[in-house]
Amino acid sequence: MPRYRFPEPPGRLITPREYLMPRRTLLAGLGAAGLAMGAPQLLRAKTLSAQPWPDSTDETLTSREVATGYNNFFEFGTSKSDPAAQAHRLQTDPWTIAVSGRVHAPGEIGMEDILSGFDLEERIYRLRCVEGWSKVIPWIGFPLKDLLARFDPTSDARYVEFETLHDPEQMPNQTGDDIDWPYREGLRMDEAMHPLTLLAVGMYGEMLPNQCGAPIRLVVPWKYGFKSIKSIVHIRVASERPVSSWEARAPREYGFYANVNPEVRHPRWHQATERRLHDGGRIATAKFNGYGEQVAHLYDDMDLFEHF
Ligand code: MTE
Repeated sequence: MPRYRFPEPPGRLITPREYLMPRRTLLAGLGAAGLAMGAPQLLRAKTLSAQPWPDSTDETLTSREVATGYNNFFEFGTSKSDPAAQAHRLQTDPWTIAVSGRVHAPGEIGMEDILSGFDLEERIYRLRCVEGWSKVIPWIGFPLKDLLARFDPTSDARYVEFETLHDPEQMPNQTGDDIDWPYREGLRMDEAMHPLTLLAVGMYGEMLPNQCGAPIRLVVPWKYGFKSIKSIVHIRVASERPVSSWEARAPREYGFYANVNPEVRHPRWHQATERRLHDGGRIATAKFNGYGEQVAHLYDDMDLFEHF
C-alpha cells in the first residue's frame, strides 16, 4: 500500500501538537510502517515540505480558531456556533463515497483509499471562500476530476450531483425542515473538471474538523460558500441538471451557478462587499472571488444575471 504522507503548512501556520493527532482513518492510510513509526512523528517529519499551490492567494490566512468556530452546517443547527458545538456527533470513520449515474464503472470508494490513493503531498491550496463574510484557508485536498476519472464518466455526463450523509441520529437538525435533507449540490461537468474544484480532506495541516465537513467536502472557490457541500457520501454523475438544496428552497434567491458576482444582488441584500473574518474589515467582493483569470472562460456565452 502506498504510504500516506500528510503535508503541513509552513512556518507560523503549523498547528499545535494536539491537532496533529490523526484519527483512525489516517492511520489506516499510513499503513503498517506508519503505525510502527507512530503517525505523529511521521507528520512532524513532513514539516515545511509543502508549498502553496500556484493558484493560492497570498492574503492573510483566517485563524484556525475562527475558521473552525464560525461555520454553516445546517445539519447541526442554524447558528454559526452550532456546528463547532454539535458536530462531534458525526462518525466519520469508516466513511465511503458511492459514485453512480453516468459512469462506466459505478462503485464505492472508502476514505482509506482516498487518503492513500491520491497525491496529497505538496498540495496546500490557500484559497479564499466568500459568503457575505470571507475566509482564507490552507486546504489540503486534490482536484475532484482525479476522483471522477476513476469512475470513468460516459460521453453524456454533463453534470455532477453531490449528497451529504442523511442520518438524524448523528445530525440532529435533520429532524427539522430547514432543508429538504439530505443537503444536495451540483456542478456542471466543466466546472467539476476544473483544477480549482477540490475535494478537501484537511486544513491547517490536520484532518478536517467535523464542523468543516469531515471527512471530505467540496471547495469551489469562485462560487458562494453554499456550493461547497460538506461530508459527502454520494456523487451522482448526471445528464440532466440537478437541483441543489438552496435552489429548491428559494429559487429566486439562490441560483444553480452561484458564481461570486458583486454586480448581481441577492433579493434581500447586496453582494458587493464582504466582511473579512480574519480582521473584521469590510472589502469589495471581486467577481468570481478573484479567480476570474482561471474560470471566467467557463461562462463566456452566458448571461450571468439570468444564470445567477
Ligand atoms: N454542507 C452541508 N452538508 N450542510 C450545510 O449546511 N452549508 C454551506 C456549505 N456546505 C452547508 C454545507 C454553506 S451555506 C457554507 S457558507 C459553507 O458550507 C460554509 O463552510 P465553512 O463552515 O467551512 O465556512
